Amino acid sequence: MSGDLKLNKIFGAALGTAFVILVVQQGAAMMYHREAPEKAGYFVAVQEEASGEAAVLPTDWGTVLPVADIAKGEAAFARCQACHNNAQGGADGIGPNLYGVVGGPVMHRAGFAYSDAMAKHKAEFPTWGYDELDHFLTAPGRYVPGTKMSFAGIRDTQTRIDLIAYLRSQGSGGFGIPAPDPARQPGAAAAPADGAAAPAAEGAPATEAAPTAPATPGATTQATPAAPPAATSPAPPNA
Ligand code: HEC
Repeated sequence: MSGDLKLNKIFGAALGTAFVILVVQQGAAMMYHREAPEKAGYFVAVQEEASGEAAVLPTDWGTVLPVADIAKGEAAFARCQACHNNAQGGADGIGPNLYGVVGGPVMHRAGFAYSDAMAKHKAEFPTWGYDELDHFLTAPGRYVPGTKMSFAGIRDTQTRIDLIAYLRSQGSGGFGIPAPDPARQPGAAAAPADGAAAPAAEGAPATEAAPTAPATPGATTQATPAAPPAATSPAPPNA
């Protein structure tokens, strides 16, 4: 009899212990649960960044330049002025004078000591077209490795568009704006224009792009701000 009683006590103690362990486990589980959402949020943010980079279409200059904000572009040019003067006939500084550079030859200032890196770039891409300028201003050191323009770059696409529109208004009004290019508009099948173009078309906004493209060449003139028609485009201003 007393043996049974002892066994009962032992069994009861074991049950009690098991209960305590259960409660502690539950509590711990609840604490871990509370941490989980923070981690999940972090991972989501990283994914968004990655996919945002992949979905870049080349800029459709014929669509964006006519409506660019030249005043904002002029404000953005403040970041360049430590090194660049862009007045007609203005001197070179740490960087070359930029009057008339849009659409002009790479290394457009005869008297400026450009880097070997820029000379190498010129051999492959002789002209500062819109795409070339856009790539250069996004990340100078990545687009022209070894350039002596020590400037990190402008990551915001609209800021670069406004800035390029402003630069064009300073002596490059004679450099035309291309017609809108449906292949560069959202929903277009991946444009193979350059290596940067990713298979962006996720099929999402495909409906709005295609039918709206008006290939009117008249749109070209409308953006030309009262800049002198730059007779012989960007001839070396002073030799
Ligand atoms: C820290 C000085 C510095 C800043 C800031 C700077 N640049 Fe430059 N830039 C240079 C130098 C130096 C070169 C010559 C690069 C070379 O030879 O490799 C250059 C070259 C250029 C060229 C090529 C010109 C040609 O004749 O081929 C363009 C276009 C240009 N810069 C635009 C800009 C714009 C636009 C900004 C502002 C967003 C800017 N730069 C900011 C120093 C600078």
